[in-house]
Amino acid sequence: MRRGPILALLGIATVAGGIAAAVALLLPWLPPVASKEGGRIDDVFWFVTVICIVIFAIVAAALIYSVTHFRAAPDDDSDGPPRHGHTGLEIAWTVIPTVLVTSIGIFSAIVLARNDALGSNPLRINVTAQQFTWSFSYPTANNLTSGTLRLPVNRSVLLTFTSKDVIHSFWVPQFGQKQDTVPGLHATLHITPNKVGTYPVICTELCGLGHALMRSEAVVMTTAAFEKWLKSQTKATSSPNTSVSGAAVFKNQPCGSCHTLKAAGATAKIGPDLDKLPAYAKTAGQPLEQFIHESIVNPNAYVQKGYPKNVMPPFDSLPKDQLDALVQYLIQSSKKG
Ligand code: CUA
Repeated sequence: MRRGPILALLGIATVAGGIAAAVALLLPWLPPVASKEGGRIDDVFWFVTVICIVIFAIVAAALIYSVTHFRAAPDDDSDGPPRHGHTGLEIAWTVIPTVLVTSIGIFSAIVLARNDALGSNPLRINVTAQQFTWSFSYPTANNLTSGTLRLPVNRSVLLTFTSKDVIHSFWVPQFGQKQDTVPGLHATLHITPNKVGTYPVICTELCGLGHALMRSEAVVMTTAAFEKWLKSQTKATSSPNTSVSGAAVFKNQPCGSCHTLKAAGATAKIGPDLDKLPAYAKTAGQPLEQFIHESIVNPNAYVQKGYPKNVMPPFDSLPKDQLDALVQYLIQSSKKG
């Protein structure tokens, strides 16, 4: 083969590969990664992407060179010369894809094995999904439950999922993994967050009317801050002598992601404005305390006009002291508001 065509092919391949590489590198295809497992999964993506860019460059070079150099004359209707196989070429186009696909398989298997390696002391958290909220319970003496997923940075975490009703799907984009929660099954997901920050927890399985609202937050904290939070929460809810703080219950449960309550700094507008509870109770014709209590444990018994029905889940598994504290807190706050 002469040098001219080889140089031309190399030139086209470099330009095509360069454009493909720029598209891969310069556009933000994936969110920034905040877990070790997500980082490894991204490595697999990059491994496959590099292979694809090289193949794309070779194919584009052969195609563009053929189109420009071997074009038939406008009045040439004859067939090309017959070809009867080329053993070397056939071996090449069988062996190369086999090697590439096998290497992707091996790379992925290594990543899967490493992503599943829990280490000796994982933090085990039970995740409960229900229409339309997430709750996270920690292995503390008082079975601490939080509406926000708080995690210490750089520690292996094993989430075990339970669904109370239908199929949901747990997803924190920055952690790089999704897990369906299927009623009757208890799937697990291993995460090692490696970047302090706050990330969205999203339900990615259409699960009913409030699916789009089924969101929470994952807060990755320094180990010291996490231990401090865990200790303060354990104290706040375990001892029956110290009074439970309604404000803390409000904060730990996902109330603030749907409702406005000035006293708590909550400004969401999906559900009724909790500063207007006294007016709502009047409309419903109930005493304020009874009205708030029922609205928490059986929220669909009365839904304030103008707000969606069957969206708020019943919070009927709250411990009695927390429920009472929350009711009193809402009475006090809404009277001020
Ligand atoms: Cu739960 Cu969508």
